[in-house]
Amino acid sequence: MKFFIDTADVDAIRELHDLGMVDGVTTNPSLILKSGRNILEVTKEICSFVSGPVSAEVVALKAEDMIAEGRKLAEIAPNIAVKVPLTWDGLKTCKVLSGEGFMVNVTLCFSANQALIAAKAGATFISPFIGRLDDINLEGLDLIGDIRTIYDNYDFETQILAASIRTANHVKDCALIGADVITAPPAVIKALASHVLTDKGLDQFTADWAKTGQKII
Ligand code: E4P
Repeated sequence: MKFFIDTADVDAIRELHDLGMVDGVTTNPSLILKSGRNILEVTKEICSFVSGPVSAEVVALKAEDMIAEGRKLAEIAPNIAVKVPLTWDGLKTCKVLSGEGFMVNVTLCFSANQALIAAKAGATFISPFIGRLDDINLEGLDLIGDIRTIYDNYDFETQILAASIRTANHVKDCALIGADVITAPPAVIKALASHVLTDKGLDQFTADWAKTGQKII
């Protein structure tokens, strides 16, 4: 399973990149706002060291304008995935841009039918939002499972990019279901390494080692 990092914070991406944890990056208008950076500049900086897909989102609502924005974003680097919303205009944009050879990430997916139609429109990635479904007491992970089944039934090549990941358990469950990619904030990626028994065990080993009076170096 590939790890994409869901942030426009360049330092945070670099830290994880140096550990080999970054297969790609996703951004959205809210993350660009949070970064306080210009979208073209920050996306270019990310692409200068991340070789996997870097999603940059269009903000227009009409297909014609989305297509123009998508082409402009794609000029930033060859590994840009143009992110479009799951609207009819977004699907038109997806069809045109994927036909031109660009990667397209169709975002804001909340149903299996939306994922089905995005695959038909040639999406490279579909981004179902787990956390936002959980927020309204629906089962976000069930959606990932449904999409996996549908895509496998028909050999769709669109990759399932599980998004709106809030917890380490979301990551594990997505891996069990067979999502192709997860995108998560840096804090969630770091949380994957944590376990209370690891901390407890290390405390014990450190205390016992001190009692031996030995040194390795
Ligand atoms: C995905 O591409 C989105 O940027 C992101 O995962 C949304 O997450 P949120 O629901 O926590 O904002």
